[in-house]
Amino acid sequence: MTFDCSEKLALHGGPQAKRTPFSKRKRHGDLEKRYLAEVIDSDMLFFFSGTKVFEFQRRFAEMYDRKYCIACSSGTAAVHIALGALQLPPGSEVITSAITDMGSLTGLLYQGLVPVFADVDADTLNMDPAAVRSCLTKKTRAILVVHHSGLAAGMDSFLDIGREFNLPIVEDCAQAYGCKCKGQLAGTMGVISAFSLNHFKHITCGSGGMVLTNDERLRYLASLFLDKCYQREEKIRNPFFLAPNYQMTELQGAVALAQLERVVEIVESRNRLGRKLNQLLEQIPGVSPQIVPPDYQQSYFLYLFKLDLEKLHCAAREFAEALASEGVPNEAHQITGGRPTYLYDLFQKRSAFPGSNYPFGTRVYSRGDCPVAEAAFERWITMNFYEHYTDRDIEEIAFGIGKVAHHFAARSASKKPPSVERTM
Ligand SMILES: Cc1ncc(COP(=O)(O)O)c(C=O)c1O
Repeated sequence: MTFDCSEKLALHGGPQAKRTPFSKRKRHGDLEKRYLAEVIDSDMLFFFSGTKVFEFQRRFAEMYDRKYCIACSSGTAAVHIALGALQLPPGSEVITSAITDMGSLTGLLYQGLVPVFADVDADTLNMDPAAVRSCLTKKTRAILVVHHSGLAAGMDSFLDIGREFNLPIVEDCAQAYGCKCKGQLAGTMGVISAFSLNHFKHITCGSGGMVLTNDERLRYLASLFLDKCYQREEKIRNPFFLAPNYQMTELQGAVALAQLERVVEIVESRNRLGRKLNQLLEQIPGVSPQIVPPDYQQSYFLYLFKLDLEKLHCAAREFAEALASEGVPNEAHQITGGRPTYLYDLFQKRSAFPGSNYPFGTRVYSRGDCPVAEAAFERWITMNFYEHYTDRDIEEIAFGIGKVAHHFAARSASKKPPSVERTM
């Protein structure tokens, strides 16, 4: 069966490309209920005296073949803990991606560190190693690599830069469960890495996060940083640096532990569906999926594709609206709400701590700093992407994209409409 991409757009009164509704996603079940009931029955919600958070830490570290996992209250907390454990002096610069969630940056700023934004690669939207090199200064003390949308960044190059300039590499894996770079899991290559368990991630306990490391000293400092610098292991209460309370509760730990049972299946399903959609989009002129380099495994936190505006004659926003009308939820804004992170007011006005320019010092952030990232918002479409999608969902999504692409391509040229083959 083939779909006719010259069919009238839903926006203009035609039938929606998404002919069948998406099925409901069910994320939590009996195991979560059982573990939660065990916690309630134990009458202990505090992690240090409970079992679920410790068990979750042990299992997650084992899954990633890392020595230590420190569970915490959010992905933002996890990045903060990772940077806090490194004990970088305030005023140090940390290079990170121009396209990332604010959660990558909150802890960085609270530590008095200065983010320096590196431009992204035009085909992956992950940080470009050449751009990272151009951001290095005498003040650079670390590189925070963000694995964007479930695609591992090119870690080899970042690790090389780290070795060359003696800089620790921190991995932000909030979007990157199960994604691999040349056979290695994202989160196992840097000196310390951070994950998120927020509602939107592959797995969730409402809000939560974890830090992975193989370094015993970093584990110790991270476990203090999460807990007001109380030395619970030694039964000492004499804080010697400033640290927040980012504890994970036993209730979060119970749900997180149950979610671990599903993560491999979720990643495999998303990967298979993503590859199928990539194949279908190959037949559609004017759109190209995010490039997954050979030997990389995408885990499709999001599904991204790029528009060839020379062929399509439309703004990404117009494309996104027409596609949404076809019943395919999407947006042209990316995770940062329509602009690279450094164009947020907080950076433009240098108002992290209102009333001062701390911690930015003399550093200013300007439009034009990262041209590839800025152009991405005119060319890329982002779709939420879920493991419970069926093959038919994927075919209808591809059909919707094909219809919209055909419409915008035909605005200037009358061409034979592309068709999308169903493989089912
Ligand atoms: C790349 C990245 N880092 C950090 C975070 C922060 O995670 P959380 O929302 O759990 O605080 C997110 C969340 O979206 C993220 O996408």
